[in-house]
Amino acid sequence: MYRRSIIITGGAGFIGSHVVRLFVNKYPDYRIINLDKLTYAGNLANLKDIEDKPNYKFVRMDVCDCEGVLDIMKEERVDGIIHLAAETHVDRSIKNPSAFAETNVIGTLSMLQAAKACWESLPDKWEGKRFHHVSTDEVYGALKSDCPEGSPHPDNPGAVAYGTEFFTEDTPYRPHSPYSAAKAASDHFVRAFHDTYGLPTTISNCSNNYGPYQFPEKLIPLCINNIYERRPIPVYGRGLNVRDWLYVGDHADAIDLIFHKGRVGQTYNVGGAGERRNIDLVRMLVEITDRILGRPEGADDDLITFVTDRAGHDDRYAIDSGKLSRELGWKPSVAFGVGLEKTVAWYLGNRDWLDGVTGGEYMNYYAETYTNK
Ligand code: NAD
Ligand code: TYD
Repeated sequence: MYRRSIIITGGAGFIGSHVVRLFVNKYPDYRIINLDKLTYAGNLANLKDIEDKPNYKFVRMDVCDCEGVLDIMKEERVDGIIHLAAETHVDRSIKNPSAFAETNVIGTLSMLQAAKACWESLPDKWEGKRFHHVSTDEVYGALKSDCPEGSPHPDNPGAVAYGTEFFTEDTPYRPHSPYSAAKAASDHFVRAFHDTYGLPTTISNCSNNYGPYQFPEKLIPLCINNIYERRPIPVYGRGLNVRDWLYVGDHADAIDLIFHKGRVGQTYNVGGAGERRNIDLVRMLVEITDRILGRPEGADDDLITFVTDRAGHDDRYAIDSGKLSRELGWKPSVAFGVGLEKTVAWYLGNRDWLDGVTGGEYMNYYAETYTNK
C-alpha cells in the first residue's frame, strides 16, 4: 500500500521527466503516475532509468480527457496532482495558437474538474489533497532592460541583472504571446477553482529552464546541436533579449517543496538569478561546445547568424524568488556557468538521445521555421 498516489502530467517532457525521476527515487512509498499524451515533445526515453521501478506507472492520455483522468484518479486513489502537461514553444504558438488554447486552457480546466469531482465526493474531501500547477514567468509580460551593460544582481552576488525591475507574485498579468496568454488563462482557472470551490491548489511561475532532455527547438539544445552539426545558429533580432536561466534540477526541487509545503491558494515565483543576453549565452555555448569537442578556439564563431526577430519578442524576463526563499528556504544550487558546462557535456555525451529526437519530422520543422528567417 502506498502512502500517497500522485499524477504528474507531462512527465515524458523536459521538466516533467526530471520531476517524475525525483519523486520516483525520493519517495519509494509514493505511487507516481506519469500521465502524458506523448506529443512531439514527449519522449519515454527521458525516463529509461526509472521505467521499471515498482512505484512508477505510465498512462498515455490527453489531459483534455476529463472522464479518463477521473477514472484513473478513482482507480489509483490519487491524492495529489502536479500538472505540467502543456504546449510550450512560443514560436509554435505564433503559428498555431489553437493547440495552445486546447491543451493549456481546456486541458487544465479538465484536470481541475476531474480533481474536484474525485475529491469532493470523498468523506475527507480536500483533506491531504493538493493540485499543484506549473506555470511560467511569461504570464507577467516583459520587463525593460534598463541596465544594458548589466549591474550587480540583488539576489546573486557575482551575477548581473540587466534591469532594475523583477517579476514578483504581485506583478499584474500581461502576457504577449499566444503561449503565455494560454498559460495565463490556465493560472486564472486554477486560482478560480481555489477561490470558488476551495480546491487545495498552489501555482509556481518559473523562469527559463535548461538541462538534459530538453527538446532541441528551445534555444540551448538547439544551439548545441547546431554547433555539433556545424549548422547556422539562428539568433533572433540583435540577440539582446534577456532570459533568467534556471537549472532544471533546481526547478524540480522547488516543485517538490511547494507541492509538500507551499501554502494552499498561494503562488510562488521560481527563478535562477542567472540573467544572460541571448547573444552572450550563444557565444558561451560555442566556446564550451568547441572546447569539449576539441575544436580550435573560435572555429565555429561564424555559425552565429542574426535572423528576423520573433514577433512580439519579450525583451527581458527576471524573477524575484524572495517569497519562495523566505517561506520555504529554496535557493538555486547550480551556478549558471557550472550548469551550462554540465548541460553541453550531457548533450554531446548523449548523441543517441539527440539523434532519436532530431529525425525527419524535426528537420521538417527546422527547415520550415528557419528557411524564411
Ligand atoms: P515540454 O514541451 O518539454 O513537455 C510537455 C509535455 O506535455 C510532453 O511530454 C507532452 O507530450 C505533454 N503533453 C502535451 N500536450 C498534452 C496533452 N494534451 N495531454 C497530455 N500530455 C500532453 O515542456 P516543458 O518545457 O517540460 O514544460 C513543462 C511545464 O513547465 C509547462 O507547463 C510549461 O509551461 C512550464 N514551464 C516551462 C519552462 C521552460 O523553460 N521549459 C519554464 C517555466 C514553466
Ligand atoms: P526559447 O528557448 O524559445 O524560450 P522562450 O521563448 O520561452 O524564452 O527562447 C529563448 C530566447 O532565445 C528567446 O529570447 C528567443 C531566443 N531564440 C533565438 O534567438 N533563436 C532561436 O532559434 C530560438 C529557439 C530562441
